[in-house]
Amino acid sequence: MEVIITKDSSSASAKAADLVAKAVRTKPDSVLGLATGGTPVELYKRLINMHKNEGLDFSKVRTFNLDEYIGLKPTDKQSYNFFMRENFFDHVNIPRENINIPDGMAADIPGFCSEYEEKIRRAGGIDLQILGIGSDGHIGFNEPTSSLASRTRIKTLTQKTVDDNARFFNGDKSLVPLHVITMGIGTIMDAKTIVLLAFGANKAEAVSKMIEGPVASMVPASALQLHPRAKVFIDRAASGKLVNTGYYDWVFERKPEWQKDI
Ligand code: F6R
Repeated sequence: MEVIITKDSSSASAKAADLVAKAVRTKPDSVLGLATGGTPVELYKRLINMHKNEGLDFSKVRTFNLDEYIGLKPTDKQSYNFFMRENFFDHVNIPRENINIPDGMAADIPGFCSEYEEKIRRAGGIDLQILGIGSDGHIGFNEPTSSLASRTRIKTLTQKTVDDNARFFNGDKSLVPLHVITMGIGTIMDAKTIVLLAFGANKAEAVSKMIEGPVASMVPASALQLHPRAKVFIDRAASGKLVNTGYYDWVFERKPEWQKDI
């Protein structure tokens, strides 16, 4: 796991955006795994700017979103489908048919989840997966005790995640759906490259357990310790509970020239 501590969330988002842009320029039909939530919003803004001002072309890109609330229609403002259109898809040139988001209204949820897995396989797997992290250590909506080998399936949110996400539902916890469809940890781990972003002191505990704690299903993000190419971009506040920060900075400052842009 490569840990990159930046002075603020903006510089972390800029570095992550450069990485995504490079992946798309190198492989125009890249398969991107995408996340929602507050964390990746600036990353998406920067990619939109690159599309508008630097000709970054998404016309062959294919995307798979991590998760969606069960029971919300794509037209519901709190759905992740709506979020993705508003924050990214409506502003870049990804063809609609290349966009995949779990269907929170699927009548047959297990059937939908196996098809989603199959679609990812048929696309050749995810090249680059963007992730945030929950304050309880979740990735996607894989809550603590999720199997580290899990695939796309239904999950029930913890009270902590419901509380955290109520801010997207006008602060009304009772409106946050309890059930979700999420890629599994095994699904996420199959991505060739993983880029996780985490900002703010509220994430410091989860970040320290993810990076420096034992690999454990109680901290789903700790599975990334086993990934061959996971990059974690965090701001100073989110790095507040790490022990080894000096070493991460030391490594970053001394990267061999050939390693600098990968
Ligand atoms: C969203 C997702 C979640 C979020 C996490 C952090 O698609 O998969 O794991 O990344 O809940 O959310 P924010 O960024 O709102 O703090």
